[in-house]
Amino acid sequence: TELKNLEELLTITPETLIKITDHFITELDKGLSKKGGNIPMIPGWVLDFPTGKETGDYLAIDLGGTNLRVVLVKLGGNRDFDTTQSKFALPKHMRTATSDELFDFIAECLKKFVDEEFPEGVSAPLPLGFTFSYPASQNSINEGVLQRWTKGFDIDGVEGKDVVPLLQASIEKVQVPIEVVALINDTTGTLVASMYTDSEAKMGLIFGTGCNGAYYDVVKDIPKLEGLIPDDIDPESPMAINCEYGAFDNEHLVLPRTKYDIQIDKESPRPGQQSFEKMISGYYLGEVLRLILLDLTLEKKLIFKNQDLSKLQTSFILDTSFPAKIEEDPFENLSDVADLFQNQLGIQTTSAERKIIRVLAEKIGERSSRLSICGIAAICKKRGYKSAHCAADGSVYNKYPGFKERAAQGLRDIFKWESKEDPIIIVPAEDGSGAGAAIIAALTQKRLKEGK
Ligand code: BG6
Ligand code: GLC
Repeated sequence: TELKNLEELLTITPETLIKITDHFITELDKGLSKKGGNIPMIPGWVLDFPTGKETGDYLAIDLGGTNLRVVLVKLGGNRDFDTTQSKFALPKHMRTATSDELFDFIAECLKKFVDEEFPEGVSAPLPLGFTFSYPASQNSINEGVLQRWTKGFDIDGVEGKDVVPLLQASIEKVQVPIEVVALINDTTGTLVASMYTDSEAKMGLIFGTGCNGAYYDVVKDIPKLEGLIPDDIDPESPMAINCEYGAFDNEHLVLPRTKYDIQIDKESPRPGQQSFEKMISGYYLGEVLRLILLDLTLEKKLIFKNQDLSKLQTSFILDTSFPAKIEEDPFENLSDVADLFQNQLGIQTTSAERKIIRVLAEKIGERSSRLSICGIAAICKKRGYKSAHCAADGSVYNKYPGFKERAAQGLRDIFKWESKEDPIIIVPAEDGSGAGAAIIAALTQKRLKEGK
């Protein structure tokens, strides 16, 4: 019965999905209002739709949740682009390093890449789009004041500062001629890159270390922009919005939080923030599983009797690949799960325990995917989209078993379509948000040339 209770606790019914989506719409609107709300709804100052005809060579840096990517993007101008990229794993200690260490690390990766790609050197300064995947307020496209770190980052001296000059200063130290021309969120990058190649794309979504979405609103429908918009900008102009909806329901009105979610929040560097994200995104899924297993062991005394629990008692020891691998185990006796627990946690499992572990992993994955799509549903309802391609990227979307199917089912539960084919679908995004940063850099330069 303990397991049945847990299953129930992690089940998200269609009724719950609908209730959450309705509240989500209210919260999106609040975020755009003058007063503001939980969801930051940050105007991204991308005031054009990409046409697919933009051309040129651009550099992009993509600081996501787990990797730093440096990308050279060649925009073909025919809804096509080529990218050459280097991926650098973000060392774990970077999450809590100093501001200088972080930006110097980025600049050094950038220099390594430029030295390799341009062995003859660079004459004119290279324009660079910076994908910075944290909530950063913008009054223009080439700035971003970090509101607060998310996804477990905790670096002093950056919150409240514009990160563009911080990056530019580190670039100057390594002496490569690069000018940061645009700062964007990864969701905005994903949105724009996908629109460049897919005219049906309406949203850019990340289901990864964090969870967030971007879409285009209309300037005149964003009350909080009143007084901030230069006169030469048409009120009918589109405006990309980085929702930062990982912060949905920080007031805890509708999300069915469990004691495990509450504990994760309490022990995080920013308690009270990112309530939605902490229940569903990749950074936390392994931790939810760990806390449940610990509870079943220590409090309920149901599993892992007489086992060494020292590793299981270490916070964040299980990354998302752990529950993902549990779900992937094809064997009847769950022998992969047995190996995982033995090798990573030093715990020997019985067959009955492995069955429990499997059910829990499935429920955690299912809960994540079903809750994740409430943001999509809310944006579609808010904007009146009857059909849409929602372009998605991130490790959970790309790698977590069953995520795509469960997410699609969640949307069906909300919209109750009668048609054979779902009109609103999640599609894989085009080649990372680095390309989006490049396209936005191109759009920005075009505006500047036109004297806008
Ligand atoms: C990448 C995008 O593919 O996915 C990044 O290019 C994004 O911009 C990242 O931040 C998110 O995934 P994860 O799993 O690394 O957080
Ligand atoms: C977190 C960040 C947000 C980002 C998302 C996905 O929610 O705050 O900026 O888009 O993670 O990477």
